[in-house]
Amino acid sequence: MTANSKAAIAERLAEARERTLALIEPLDDKQLNAVYSPILSPLAWDLGHIANFEELWLVQTIGGRKPMDGDLGRFYDAIENPRKTRGELPILRDAELRAYMADVRERALDVLGDVDISPGAEEPLLREGFVYEMLLAHELQHNETMLQLLQMVGGYESALVDSLAEPEPVAPGPETITIAAGEYEIGAGERGFAYDNERGRHTVELTAYEIDRTPVTNAAYVEFIEDAGAELPLYWEPDGDGGWVDTARGRRAPVDPSRPVVHVSGEQAGAFARWAGKRLPSEHEWEAARPRLDGVGHAWEWTSSDFLAYPGFEAFPYPEYSEVFFGPEYKVLRGGSWATHPSVARPSFRNWDLLQRRQIFSGLRCTRDA
Ligand SMILES: [Fe+2]
Repeated sequence: MTANSKAAIAERLAEARERTLALIEPLDDKQLNAVYSPILSPLAWDLGHIANFEELWLVQTIGGRKPMDGDLGRFYDAIENPRKTRGELPILRDAELRAYMADVRERALDVLGDVDISPGAEEPLLREGFVYEMLLAHELQHNETMLQLLQMVGGYESALVDSLAEPEPVAPGPETITIAAGEYEIGAGERGFAYDNERGRHTVELTAYEIDRTPVTNAAYVEFIEDAGAELPLYWEPDGDGGWVDTARGRRAPVDPSRPVVHVSGEQAGAFARWAGKRLPSEHEWEAARPRLDGVGHAWEWTSSDFLAYPGFEAFPYPEYSEVFFGPEYKVLRGGSWATHPSVARPSFRNWDLLQRRQIFSGLRCTRDA
């Protein structure tokens, strides 16, 4: 790869950092360190973790340099420190935190200047700039986790977040799309960035099915609540007048009937599909239909699939990204939400979570056998 692509990497790293800092710009140090939920980290932890992950991979692993502060890595290790404990850790705050983020970035760019990121690079982490793509994805994915927490911060106002959350209109069209029985290719190809869990690319056999062209809307979900007494999406409350308000960020905005529903659990997503006389798609069905689906990017969509390894899976570059989560406990979500950076939302990207989770931007679309 040329010096130009190194410049492009540096520019994209800067853009991601700008987005991270813009999200927290309206907040003070106290808000950044507050614990809003046992299942989400204080924002200051995410910030320090983003920088520490960058130091670990781009400065220590790739640059062969010593840690800047030997102890820091312990507090920012996501596996060592479950989310509910992160509010207790002696993490960096305020000016010290910002200085650490900037220092790490400076060192990472220094290392980037000296490495071979060509497709033939000796170090697998560097081939086609893999480790830099991983770092970019990591920061942007943490932006989404931060946005989950920001929904809990009363009075949080951000023009950036408002513009992200504004849905793109979906073109009129048929209610469902029919996908013919046959063999379909699933997963990421050999080239280009993807996580280990998206490989290897393999063929699956599907029977014919019909899948909704668009995700389930708030209007349809209201019918489900009123007809079946379903659990409300997180942040919804009755408005006292027979309608519903969305209280995210401390607002009381009337629920917009035309938007895709978000913040529903996997359990409720499955219950909705059954109530509608349908079912959730498997992740294979979702991916096979992906090129013809509208409304992708509004909400993560629950599937019926367990988060499992694909045939030929090899953990790379570390088992804690995917491998330790494989099993029936976690269900796969596909697509991406308004809070997902478009570069993260590849058709083969697999998100996963526990069925009961609702703090994520999760909705659904329904399927049935054709
Ligand atoms: Fe992380």
